[in-house]
Amino acid sequence: MVKMPARETASGLRAVARCDDLGVAPYSDSDDHLFRPYLGAGHAATLDRIAAWMTEAGMTARVDAAGNIVGRYEGRHPDAPALVIGSHVDSVRDGGRYDGMLGVMLGIETVAWFAERGHRFAFAIEVIGFGDEEGSRFPVSMLTTRAVAGVLGDQDLALVDAAGVGLAEALDGFGLDVTRFVDAVREREDVLAYVEAHIEQGPVLEAEGHALGVVSAIAAQYRFRAVVTGVAGHAGTMAMRLRHDALAAAAEMVLAVERIGGAGPEDLVATVGRMEVGPGVPNVVPGAVTFSIDIRAGVDAVRDRAAEAIQAVLPEIAARRGVGLDLTLQQDLPATPCDGSLSALMADAVSAVTGAAPRVLVSGAGHDAMVMARLAPVSMVFLRCRGGISHNPAEAVEVEDVQVALEAMTAFVSRFEQTGAGAGAALTQEER
Ligand code: GLV
Ligand code: MN
Ligand code: MN
Repeated sequence: MVKMPARETASGLRAVARCDDLGVAPYSDSDDHLFRPYLGAGHAATLDRIAAWMTEAGMTARVDAAGNIVGRYEGRHPDAPALVIGSHVDSVRDGGRYDGMLGVMLGIETVAWFAERGHRFAFAIEVIGFGDEEGSRFPVSMLTTRAVAGVLGDQDLALVDAAGVGLAEALDGFGLDVTRFVDAVREREDVLAYVEAHIEQGPVLEAEGHALGVVSAIAAQYRFRAVVTGVAGHAGTMAMRLRHDALAAAAEMVLAVERIGGAGPEDLVATVGRMEVGPGVPNVVPGAVTFSIDIRAGVDAVRDRAAEAIQAVLPEIAARRGVGLDLTLQQDLPATPCDGSLSALMADAVSAVTGAAPRVLVSGAGHDAMVMARLAPVSMVFLRCRGGISHNPAEAVEVEDVQVALEAMTAFVSRFEQTGAGAGAALTQEER
């Protein structure tokens, strides 16, 4: 962990130290590892802390109707459209301290850098810390990002978590109202562009010796829920040949998912990451199993072919083993290209600070940017992380890389002001 002075000017060191601060209770719901699910106590404590840092950096801070923290650095004119910098504040269970949070901290540092120099733009800059990118509480991800982009699904407001707590009840405990959830939506004309800095969560940049990379596209994702229904019975008396064991069937299905995921191009991946076994006791043949299936690929067609194969093979296994199977698609995020002109500005900014042509790469991990792309042009910059390890407490970054990322972000914003939609915003202001 990095120790930092109490006050200092905008820096990568401070961004890292703040992520470290937020990596433990009370900012985590667990005392012995980082787990910050959406709308938990750790989430609430985290938003209070971030709001204070946003204010200190020269922004106003508010929590929107979906539980996102939104900082705003006004432009030269009130109500100017915004360049939004964001990422997420939630974590997976036993996650790392930098996934998502580092992008939010870099957004704050970027604003602090300009605020310290007294620089205002024709546009506003907003920093958003999204509440639910991981989907580690409710069965879908990017719920609050989808609220901001105005692309919520019909079922979203009726979601229930693994403990049986509905979204409405969870929001109520957070001081929010489910009937107002959709009010987090932003109008297209109010958002000029969305930019996200994120750790790579993979090994490419480190292996090739780059501190930063520019993301060309984000892989397509599906999330399914599979419910296998067998017959629970006495583990001592139920003959093996008469069993309809839901867990044994699910185990065969997991191996089929692994086989199909491994049979495609390298960017195709298929994962069963969560399983609940009922009744889940040693002396009862399992009667019901629910598990998740996460399928991703760089292009929709490859992901879709794998999903079709899984949807064909799992019912065969169920039929052969005499168990029921209910497969439900819970989330469909198509492959998302980043915006060409915005990414060119980012590439130029990265080259200017690193002195080298940027490594361009596709993201296998999902990001808030893939939903924000439905609202505005998006660009992402990746930072190298140690060993490519993420979704793991061993996640680590070098402070020097984070400093370079901050410089790239400020260089990007300056370029955006001169040549991007930000320059267009200046024209619009003058015309008013
Ligand atoms: C988020 O980290 C995801 O890629 O699922
Ligand atoms: Mn993330
Ligand atoms: Mn993540």
